[in-house]
Amino acid sequence: MSAFGGEEDEIRRLVIDCDPGHDDAIAILVALAQPRWRVDGITVVAGNQTLDKTVRNALQVLTVAGRTHVPVYAGMDRPLVRDLVTAEHVHGESGLEGPALPEPGVKAQPEHAVDWLARHLREAGAPIDVAAVGPLTNLALVLRREPDLARSIGRLVVMGGAVGEGNITPSAEFNIFVDPEAAAIVFGAGIPLTMVGLDVTHQALLPRAEFAAIRALGGPVPEMVADLLDYFAGFHQQVYAFDGVPIHDACAVAALFEPTLLTTRRLRVDVETRGQFTDGRTVCDLWGVTGRQPNAEVAVGIDRDGFLDLLTASLRRLATPPAPA
Ligand code: RIB
Ligand code: CA
Repeated sequence: MSAFGGEEDEIRRLVIDCDPGHDDAIAILVALAQPRWRVDGITVVAGNQTLDKTVRNALQVLTVAGRTHVPVYAGMDRPLVRDLVTAEHVHGESGLEGPALPEPGVKAQPEHAVDWLARHLREAGAPIDVAAVGPLTNLALVLRREPDLARSIGRLVVMGGAVGEGNITPSAEFNIFVDPEAAAIVFGAGIPLTMVGLDVTHQALLPRAEFAAIRALGGPVPEMVADLLDYFAGFHQQVYAFDGVPIHDACAVAALFEPTLLTTRRLRVDVETRGQFTDGRTVCDLWGVTGRQPNAEVAVGIDRDGFLDLLTASLRRLATPPAPA
């Protein structure tokens, strides 16, 4: 029996909903490197950059990784009711600044991400796991259109929110802040949800000293990742004085592949949508004072070394070391 239930040798299937983004890109690569998992599709949303850029970035990452068979679907180019806020100050003008990336070797699928994800969940014949590592607009629309599809999602891991931190504001984490209404829909849908927030992603920094070892794995994928990390580290050095980077989205997908990496608490989480200073905050009821039904496994700890081992092992599988002289 695997850690999730099901047979050890079965191939598990997931969909990644993302806004590439440096850490989204690394999360996609980690997922592609899992021998017992199949990425059925990548749905893209506006967030770190505008949708045209986040879609292009997803296609470029798959091109470098030689995985252009994985279908990419363009989703929502704006939040449900708010104007789009991007994170250009973090991820740069392209949304994936740092590496020199090739033109995508493939186009996005013609079907809208919301249409495809709904159809895929409806037709898959078995629950599909979802890693949502961008603003939750796409997933919220799927659930609003067909609420019963909540039962077609196996495990949902959300990179977003925090018990006690904020990044885009003192109160709110970026993915939730961009579309709090969408997040409220997703957290209220009754899906087995694991929330991987800043409390734990900021505990699992990849030290700068490790970047060279990643590059040395050899080949275009480690080269791209090292260039992404170099760029991403600059922002985190400047703002947080971190000597390394939090690979937020990779922490979230890693929790699907190795759930024991996280320490979680089952909590009630509500999303603030009407706060003057707190819009987008994930209000986590640590002590059950609201009496409201818990709706999420909230990550409060992470096995940092275990995560970094999984990350490195994944990148090693995607490396192409030089032939021995
Ligand atoms: O706050 C960090 C999250 O927002 C990450 O998913 C990052 O990629 C951005 O989407
Ligand atoms: Ca992201």
